[in-house]
Amino acid sequence: MKFAERMKRLGTETAFEVLARARQLEAEGRDMVHLEIGEPDFDTPRYICDAAIQAINDGYTHYNPAAGYPEIRKIISEEISKTRGIKTTPEQVVITPGGKPVMFYAMFALVDAGDEVIYPNPGFPIYESLINFVNARAVPIPLREENDFRLDVKELKSLVTPKTKLMIINSPQNPTGGVLTHDDLKEIARIAVENDIWILADEIYSRIIYSDKFESLTQFPGVQERTIILDGMSKTYAMTGWRLGYGVMNETLAAALTRLQTNCASCTSAFSQIAMGAAISGPQDDSDKMVAEFKKRRDVIVDGLNQIEGISCKKPLGAFYVFPNVKAFGKTSKELEELLLEEYGVAALAGTSFGKYGEGYLRFSYANSVENIKKAITRVADMAGKIL
Ligand SMILES: Cc1ncc(COP(=O)(O)O)c(C=O)c1O
Repeated sequence: MKFAERMKRLGTETAFEVLARARQLEAEGRDMVHLEIGEPDFDTPRYICDAAIQAINDGYTHYNPAAGYPEIRKIISEEISKTRGIKTTPEQVVITPGGKPVMFYAMFALVDAGDEVIYPNPGFPIYESLINFVNARAVPIPLREENDFRLDVKELKSLVTPKTKLMIINSPQNPTGGVLTHDDLKEIARIAVENDIWILADEIYSRIIYSDKFESLTQFPGVQERTIILDGMSKTYAMTGWRLGYGVMNETLAAALTRLQTNCASCTSAFSQIAMGAAISGPQDDSDKMVAEFKKRRDVIVDGLNQIEGISCKKPLGAFYVFPNVKAFGKTSKELEELLLEEYGVAALAGTSFGKYGEGYLRFSYANSVENIKKAITRVADMAGKIL
């Protein structure tokens, strides 16, 4: 079958492929610990589900405005204004089916063929995929272990050219759990303003943070008008399957993204949006408890991995991933991923699933119980003992 030429440039997310293979092995009777997929293992809090059920019963089952219900956009704009310390209006908010469409729309609205886009590597694989898809030049900024997986701002500056149109900044970060410091953000902001570059600030893990408080790039002068904040419900409220996210940007760009959404999805699910409003304005105890539990698990997995000869693992400050260095085993990340999956019953991802600078690392998601994390550590230690 002959597809359009552009399909050759579209990448994917291998997490779903590893999940499928792990499930197949389970169906064959194998025991598997799932540390591959990036989603909270908690249920969506009850009050949010109740709000959705009530909304269905109240008739929220129809098309709605492409950018979302005005009252829900207002709730989001107030939340973003409060948590980022900036002023936003409901007209700057576009509600989308998950956070991912914000990336897609932003890239389509802003980036022409031949433009350059700087993106983190290792990083969320969809960034590189979309940059290639729109025929732009993908310019990776390497994230290094010795810098706690924060980008090096001097290096970032050296990558900027007159063709740089957009920078993608993700903090807390997937797959490393790295969090940018106040000074990093300040410098990134300066580079963007001085060189007239758009920013896609992927803040989907803004609430899953173990350091002080979350800081956004938009706090710095001149940044808000050139930035699309991406956030959503998937991670904070364990709502991955609801497909609810949003972008916050200047009003003109919001109108363009809304037009893209009209062309693509029409709008976001009506009753889900009502649940979204309830989630954000309701009690935050469930989310806070989830983050506290993640922190406990992070310590268990980091300590456990560091006990294993041949592995060294930084303690991340955000998200729910660890990105241990496994170079001592003398195998590629992909070989280790396969070995763990096929022989040891641990589903994890090769660092290279997140770009070429991920070679020598594995990503474990610790969105799983302490018991299962301990079981996985025993199995990884078993593998390490056999290789070394
Ligand atoms: C960095 C990053 N951004 C965005 C997303 C997409 O989130 P959603 O499920 O809301 O589309 C993910 C999901 O894994 C992610 O890790």
